[in-house]
Amino acid sequence: MKQVFDLVIFGGTGDLSMRKLMPAMYYAFHQKKCIDGSRILVCCRKQSDFDSLKDQIKAALKSYTKTSEFSEERWQSFSQLLVPVLLDLIDIEKGWQAFADLFEGREELVRVFYLAVMPSIYGACCENLSQKDLITPSSRIVVEKPLGYDHETAEEINETMANFFQENQIYRIDHYLGKETVQNLLALRFSNFLFENIWDCKAIDHIQISIGEQVGLEGRAGFYDGAGAMRDMVQNHLLQLLCLVAMESPNKLQADDVRIEKIKVLKALKPMLDEHIDKNVVRGQYVSGSVNGEIVPGYLDELGDHESNTETFVAIRAFIENWRWAGVPFYLRTGKRLKHRSAEIIVQFKDVTHNVYPDINQKLKPNRLIIQLQPDEKIQLQLMAKDIGKEDNVLKPMTLNLDFSTQNSDFKTTAYQRLLMDAIDGNSTLFIHRDEVKAAWRWVDPIIEHWQETNNKPELYKAGTWGPAKADDLFKRKSQGWIDIT
Ligand code: BG6
Repeated sequence: MKQVFDLVIFGGTGDLSMRKLMPAMYYAFHQKKCIDGSRILVCCRKQSDFDSLKDQIKAALKSYTKTSEFSEERWQSFSQLLVPVLLDLIDIEKGWQAFADLFEGREELVRVFYLAVMPSIYGACCENLSQKDLITPSSRIVVEKPLGYDHETAEEINETMANFFQENQIYRIDHYLGKETVQNLLALRFSNFLFENIWDCKAIDHIQISIGEQVGLEGRAGFYDGAGAMRDMVQNHLLQLLCLVAMESPNKLQADDVRIEKIKVLKALKPMLDEHIDKNVVRGQYVSGSVNGEIVPGYLDELGDHESNTETFVAIRAFIENWRWAGVPFYLRTGKRLKHRSAEIIVQFKDVTHNVYPDINQKLKPNRLIIQLQPDEKIQLQLMAKDIGKEDNVLKPMTLNLDFSTQNSDFKTTAYQRLLMDAIDGNSTLFIHRDEVKAAWRWVDPIIEHWQETNNKPELYKAGTWGPAKADDLFKRKSQGWIDIT
């Protein structure tokens, strides 16, 4: 049920707010998902930002929404929702009373506090909200991934938030869960009988989950160099996708049921002991190369520091130790400055048990289910079929194609839009539970620690390629390898 809401964005002038949150709310507003009387309170610390806030948001919307979706008239109507707020998040003497006054008479409404700020400020911010009695039973807090730097720091952040909010009021975002095709993955798995009996180690040879990016640091050097691809992408996005692919069917598609199943997967991941890591994990760092025909600088040049060992690429062979997935390798891969921007899950089925086409000069190709999240949203099933018009024994791989990009609507629904509206509506199914964060760090931490202890140097790869060649060695059979579907 839609309700009137107050959405507060702390860190309102930051990159996340301008690039993702504002466009998301702009789309939501124009799709009539914001009930009259709702507001977006955008907080900033500097007077100059406060004075120019609406202009900054307008410019951001112009840049980050499609041209066809932006117009002066639409901006004017959306801007009525915006309330600029001048506030120092840490210092309660600076702006907090005036901020608190803005909520007078609105105590019963849904309140969503979005912390688009550094985790080191979360504590002070929650403390100030609490001191000003702004945390009501219908308040929610939204925080971004990666939560913390490792298991310990994540727990500290979780503990801090738990002092002020109940677990069911805390919405930990992983924007990959808001992507349309990710939801389609659940629909595909849990509403089609077809897949139910072949979704296991008896039928599946291996699974690949890849997120490739063409972009480099995008001005986030400070954050990224301290994090690296393992913390930035694997601990959250890749492991979340793995959970959705591998989890058992939840009793219902509701937050608690889904989370219980995801946590079971994370806990069943085979721990990476020191002796496994070098064989099962490859880390890389890009050097200068050509992306889309343009020469881009290497990571160290982009960083302006020639010492960093931070990885911009990770490939992993992982196993889930349970009955369903015994012995099935899950290949995970992500990197910056790769050849294409793409994100996909590829389920490769086993070879047919007996080939009745012995004469065929072309070997039978295994069936593959491809769930593509980016750049296009589609689901494909690759099958062998007869090559029409040719002799009976001439087969070729053919593709059944479910292409969602052709199903256009006036406004697209972005992942952030979906998740923000879910947080406002109180639906936490697509958000991460504290125990998931914990379990994910517990699996990732030993790998990072091993790298640190052994002073591991990343393999270098040229920008515009698919990463270090060593990542191909993760596949046991020569006939297998990373599948490039672009
Ligand atoms: C973010 C990471 O979570 O996801 C970024 O911090 C990355 O480094 C981004 O670029 C990728 O998201 P998307 O939706 O563009 O694939």
